Amino acid sequence: MEKFVINGGIPLRGEVTVSGAKNAALAVIPAAILSQDICRLENVPVSISDVNYMMKTLKYIGAGVKLIDKNTIEIDSRHVNSYVISHDMTKYLRASYYFIGALLGRFGRARVAMPGGCYLGPRPIDQHIKGFEALGAKVSVEDNAIVEAVAENLTGSPVYLDMVSVGATVNIMLAAVKAEGLTVIENAAKEPHIVDLANFLNSMGADVRGAGTDVIKIRGVENMHGCTYSIIPDQIEAGTFMVAAVASKGDVLIKNVIPKHLESISTKLIECGATVEEFDEAVRVSMDSRPGKCNIKTMPHPGFPTDMQPQMAVLLSLAKGTSIVSESIWSNRFRYTEQLARMGADISVDGQLAVIRGVEALKGAPVKADDLRAGAAMIIAGLAANGRTEIEDILHIDRGYENVVEKFGSLGADIRRVYCVEPFSATDAG
Ligand code: EPZ
Repeated sequence: MEKFVINGGIPLRGEVTVSGAKNAALAVIPAAILSQDICRLENVPVSISDVNYMMKTLKYIGAGVKLIDKNTIEIDSRHVNSYVISHDMTKYLRASYYFIGALLGRFGRARVAMPGGCYLGPRPIDQHIKGFEALGAKVSVEDNAIVEAVAENLTGSPVYLDMVSVGATVNIMLAAVKAEGLTVIENAAKEPHIVDLANFLNSMGADVRGAGTDVIKIRGVENMHGCTYSIIPDQIEAGTFMVAAVASKGDVLIKNVIPKHLESISTKLIECGATVEEFDEAVRVSMDSRPGKCNIKTMPHPGFPTDMQPQMAVLLSLAKGTSIVSESIWSNRFRYTEQLARMGADISVDGQLAVIRGVEALKGAPVKADDLRAGAAMIIAGLAANGRTEIEDILHIDRGYENVVEKFGSLGADIRRVYCVEPFSATDAG
């Protein structure tokens, strides 16, 4: 078992380079099997565990995966020979369900165990299924455990999503690029990783238009080919460093970012009193006083991202005054507030609303990472707090932040990964 130990209270200073976007990579990697060829992917966050599981899954279905350098991989999908993926491969991450769309596109058939992933409330897949069925697939879910989708002929069709869903938009795009005729996804997600996936698919010869708007039009093609493609920078990792810079009253240049993707985060940080300077591919974020309060409502892109909500709540727990955070995407994304309370934060949660009464300082404490972004919030809280914080369950953080200790360490943070012995449990007694 591992944990992070942080001695807080040091302002972060210096430069840090953001990795490729996890949520883009998780869509692009399974998409590569649509080419039946070799794809080279650059700027891949290879060492995060979610990406690792996706690469293992590719191998499991017969693809070749070669590490070219620390952030470049080559996927050879000429010999993919299976449309079946078992629970062992899917249980760790949500994005494993992108193989349903990709395998449907490749073979007209997929049998994939239900995905795992962070618990943020119920995560139904009805919109994915609705999309596959609109394209002509017969879809069944066995014992709520395995999704089987079979299509004699995938046929393009209009699909209206009942709610904006990143996952459903991705999955329908993956199947539709190989369907006969035109698919129109209405009320599509507009996140940067949707645009990145569309650009990758088009680089392989697909015909996808309108990604980044709420109507995506896909004209199916018969054949796709290999390509070289570079994944966009991670918007949420960048945002995490931005908030950490402000919460620690530091001054950080964050490189390899697309400032446009960070606008909703920059706006809120400026509202709290931070200085945010934008460059072509970098942002510099600094703060030298206690932050002011601000209210946040999470929304699909271009609104404030739910994946930045826990990190921002840490900052607001140190603000002058009371802030209100409203979570509109997930029904259970405030569990981390119990951990923050152990550090002295004053937060009350009522359903989807959190009322955060800012305190002057947080104090270090033993806490745990309930999920990926909750874990990022614990790191920021530990960096900003006085004293020592120990974070357990960091496997969640390793799912989505590449070299997190090294990166924060390079900014002057006192953060270490330590190995610790598993606590003695009743079963150990034999
Ligand atoms: C993606 O999850 C991200 N994951 C999440 O990031 C992110 O929080 C979320 O989008 C929202 O931005 C990946 O990209 C791998 P959704 P996803 O489908 O696709 C409901 C992180 O920390 N819904 O957009 O699973 C759903 O319950 C992770 O990096 C249905 O009801 O999210 C939710 O309330 C965590 N039926 C809302 O839509 C469906 O069929 C949005 O979910 C699908 C979704």
